[in-house]
Order: sequence, then C-alpha cells, then structure tokens
Amino acid sequence: MKICCIGAGYVGGPTMAMIAHKCADHTVTVVDLNQSRIDAWNSDTLPIYEPGLDAVVREARGKNLFFSTDVDTAIHEAEMIFISVNTPTKTYGVGAGRAADLRFIEKCARKIAEVSQGDKIVVEKSTLPVRTAESVKRILQANSKGRKFQILSNPEFLAEGTAIADLQNPDRVLIGGEQSPDGLLAIQKLVDVYANWVPREQIITTNLWSSELSKLTANAFLAQRISSINAISALCEATEANVDEVATAIGTDSRIGPKFLKSSVGFGGSCFQKDILNLVYLCQHFGLPEVANYWEGVITMNDYQKHRFARRVISTLFNTVSDKRIAVLGFAFKKDTNDTRESAAIYICEDLIKEHANLAIYDPKVTEVQIRQDLNVSVENPHVSVCEDAYTATEGAHAVLILTEWDEFKTLDYQRIYDQMQMPAFLFDGRNLLDLEALNRIGFEASGIGQG
Ligand code: NAD
Ligand code: UDX
Repeated sequence: MKICCIGAGYVGGPTMAMIAHKCADHTVTVVDLNQSRIDAWNSDTLPIYEPGLDAVVREARGKNLFFSTDVDTAIHEAEMIFISVNTPTKTYGVGAGRAADLRFIEKCARKIAEVSQGDKIVVEKSTLPVRTAESVKRILQANSKGRKFQILSNPEFLAEGTAIADLQNPDRVLIGGEQSPDGLLAIQKLVDVYANWVPREQIITTNLWSSELSKLTANAFLAQRISSINAISALCEATEANVDEVATAIGTDSRIGPKFLKSSVGFGGSCFQKDILNLVYLCQHFGLPEVANYWEGVITMNDYQKHRFARRVISTLFNTVSDKRIAVLGFAFKKDTNDTRESAAIYICEDLIKEHANLAIYDPKVTEVQIRQDLNVSVENPHVSVCEDAYTATEGAHAVLILTEWDEFKTLDYQRIYDQMQMPAFLFDGRNLLDLEALNRIGFEASGIGQG
C-alpha cells in the first residue's frame, strides 16, 4: 500500500519512519510545505532531536520512506493519507486563546478533495476537537465527484524524548472509525498496518468520536496529575513535608500508580496546555461551564507553579536580581528533546528578565537562535547570553537554576561550579534532580521543589 503523511513535524516524521521501518511492504511518503524541514529530513541532520530516530530514518529512507514537498503527487498516489499537521491554539477571532486552530486541517481536507482521483482513507493523526471528523468528511463529500472517502481517527500518544521507544512499544494504538461496513473495512486496513509490530490486543478500535475525545482526555488526565503534585509541592514547602516522599507514598497505591508524579517547575510542551484549553473551549461550547472550570484549574495551577518558582528565586536573592548573573541550566521543556514549545523555562526567564537579571543560559540541545526567538531578545540584549556549557554559564553567577532534567546536569563538577560563583551561592533545582544535601555540604544554599 502507498501511504502519505501530510506534515513532517515531531509526530509525522517519527511516526511514519516507524511505519516504514516495520512495514517493508508499504511505501511511505511524508510531505510538508516547509522546504527546509523536508531538506533536513533528507540530510544527515534531522530537523528534530529524538534518541534513536536517526537509525530508524537511515534504515528506511530511500527504500520505502521518502520526504518531499510534492504534496499533490503524494496524495494522488496514496491509498491512505495521514494528516499530521499542527493544530495550535487559535490566536484570533472566536475562541481565541482556547479553541484549536483548524485551518491547516481544513486546507489538507480541501487539498485531498482537489487532488484525489480514486477512493482514499483519510486518517486524523493530529490531535483534534471531538467531532472534527465530521467537518473533514463534509468537505470531502461535498467535493467527492463519485470518489469514496473514509475518515479514521488515530491519535498519537508518543511523548517527545522517548518517541522511538513509544512508537516501537506503545501502550496501545487507538483507531476510531465509522461503524458502517465501509468504515469497519477502513479500520481493519489501518489495524493491519500496526499489527506488523503491535500485538492485536493492544490495538483498540472505537467509534470516531470516542477516539477523538480520548486523546484530549488522556492529555488532560496526565497534565492533571502534574498539577496535582505541583499543588502539593507548595503545601510541602509550607509544612516541611517532602513532595518526593509524598509522591512515593501515594504512588505505591496501585490505584494511583507511580508515574507522572514528579513535581517540577511546571509542565511544558506543545500538547498539554493546548489540548486542555481546547477541552475547556469544547465544554463551554456544549454548555458545560462547571466541567470547563474544572479542567481550567489544571492550567491555572501550572501557571502558578512557573511564576511561584521565579518569585522564590527573586525573594531568596534578597528581593532583587537586578544586574545579577543567573545561570539557567536547561531550556527545553523536558530532557532528550530540542523542543522548547511552552517550556516552563521561557516563562521563568521572562519573569527574571523583567526584574533586570542577567541570564546566562545553557541547554545541551537547544540552539541560541531558538532561545533568543523564544525570549524575543536579540544578540545585542545585555540581559541574555547563551553559553556553550554549564561551567561557562555558572561563572560569576549568584544563582544556578536547573530548569530541565538533562542527565548531564547530574554529573557536573558542582565543587568547581561553587568555586567560581558569587557568595552566597544559591542553587534552585526546579526538577528535584540533584542531591541537595551533597550540594549544601559543598557550601551551596540549595533548594528544590516542595522540599519543606
Ligand atoms: P509540528 O508543528 O512539528 O509539525 C506540523 C507540520 O505540518 C509542520 O512542519 C508544517 O509545516 C506542516 N503543515 C502545516 N500545514 C500543512 C499543509 N497544509 N500541507 C503540508 N504541511 C503542512 O507539529 P507536531 O508536533 O508534529 O504536531 C502535529 C499534531 O500532532 C498536532 O495536532 C499535535 O497536537 C499532535 N501531537 C503532537 C505530539 C508531540 O509530541 N509533538 C504528540 C501527539 C500528538
Ligand atoms: C505529552 C503526552 O505524554 C503524550 O502522550 C502526548 O502524545 C503528547 O503530550 P510530551 O509533552 O512530549 O507528551 O512529554 P511529557 O513526558 O508528557 O511531558 C510533558 C511535560 O510535563 C514536560 O514539561 C515534563 O517535564 C512535565 N512532567 C512530566 C512533569 O513535570 N512531571 C512529570 O511527572 C511528568
């Protein structure tokens, strides 16, 4: 079968690379309008950093995996078309700041209608509001000219930084489709693709709306756990309880479980906030204000956590960070990715820049261009420098902030760092990554999150 995927981003690229890698019989073409992104997918330096991705792409590229900007040809030739374009939060008009911006999805639907000559299975891979498939279907059917289109929902659950492992060994694959004979046939075709490597009992099939809604719900539940433990971290700081101990204590209850209970500077990433805002908007749209308010609390708590951290840095540094060098270690929204979308680091840095701090930022994978773009500061801005390594960033600093849990931060020579800092040397571990007692023995005034 010929498969096409529209959108060569964090999801489209790795997901299709895995399908090509696991299904030698299928040919997969990933298309995008962004020429430089496609060029990067065809080069030795892939556009995204993801452990294990290089090997999977190298193995399949040129054999049954292709990256191209020729959207029309790829759609025309494919039997199955995945839509994996971005669905950001709308920034204008009705629903601005909450609703998903579906203009890229609609463009894809119209393009498929325009270019297709035969029947197609169209698979929603992007995260979408429940009932989007209805709009996609109406656009396709209104332009069908006798061709048949089946719409499936196949949301992606991979997390960045572990995308390859998640794709290789997913907890489950979810496929939603119309419960008609043609719909069930289309579902089966996609089941057959995944069944090349995913055990059949882990492939869940549902109706379209359950599948679309399950993706938003999964992200809302995951983010809710983080906001819940972060809420408790604030209480820990006021009461001398320790949030990691509390997380272990509650996580051993099998009904709660141990995962996603790591207190932090707040969740980031391109999905959680966007998807919860979308859920909130949907609830408001369907006249469910109590439900909307309930989920909005997850975002409110996350915003509180980010600003609370910045405020704590400022108050601990004698209520002023003006002209003080602050080393920021980590800028990505989590380790093992170069993605900075909605990274808590952006908000914390902005709060500190407002207080005229001089930030010296180091991240192992995020480029200087990206950091400056996210903070909206030019190279001339005296308040932000981007450093080559952690030792340069911490030289002469009043405080060190750990904002991403990169493994390399665990093994830095903290004695060396301490020796080159201003005294008292403060360290704020926003990821509870380090041994605070060992740091305090060196002489640091070190603190973590929720470590009363
Ligand atoms: P992304 O921004 O990295 O990639 C989207 C790509 O689509 C871009 O390269 C863009 O140029 C391209 N595109 C947009 N409109 C196009 C068009 N009309 N024709 C061709 N190409 C077009 O986004 P992403 O992170 O890959 O996310 C894609 C979707 O998957 C979103 O709905 C997101 O919510 C969802 N998702 C993301 C993740 C994640 O970890 N990033 C995980 C699960 C689901
Ligand atoms: C998330 C979902 O996990 C994934 O299933 C979905 O497909 C896309 O959205 P992602 O955003 O890539 O994935 O990473 P994730 O591991 O979920 O982390 C999101 C944010 O939460 C990060 O900033 C991370 O540092 C933070 N986090 C995660 C915590 O603060 N504590 C935790 O216990 C877990």
